Amino acid sequence: MSSWIKVCEIKTLNSGEMLDFDHNDKKILITKIKNKIYATDRICTHAYADLSTGFLNEDDNSVTCPLHMSRFNLESGAPENLPAEEPLKTYGTEVKDGWVYILI
Ligand code: FES
Repeated sequence: MSSWIKVCEIKTLNSGEMLDFDHNDKKILITKIKNKIYATDRICTHAYADLSTGFLNEDDNSVTCPLHMSRFNLESGAPENLPAEEPLKTYGTEVKDGWVYILI
């Protein structure tokens, strides 16, 4: 069963920033681009690399893996180039009463 999990105050998350968020065994990447919040799994689907140490691309809403440079769309989780072929899991987000929540 999914539930909304409180992550952080929206005022602490600046546009263009990446935030690590761990919940139970899940490692999640929270990003904010142009006032939209995204939440995806944080570990690359190709091999073990933490995407929060990669590169956020605000122009096309993607994050680039630091290890082999696959780029993932933050909205869909889909890889946009090889070597990654599997999408990242994505999570719903909402802002309520000044706090960011994600649906896990
Ligand atoms: S570990 Fe991310 S592209 Fe290889």
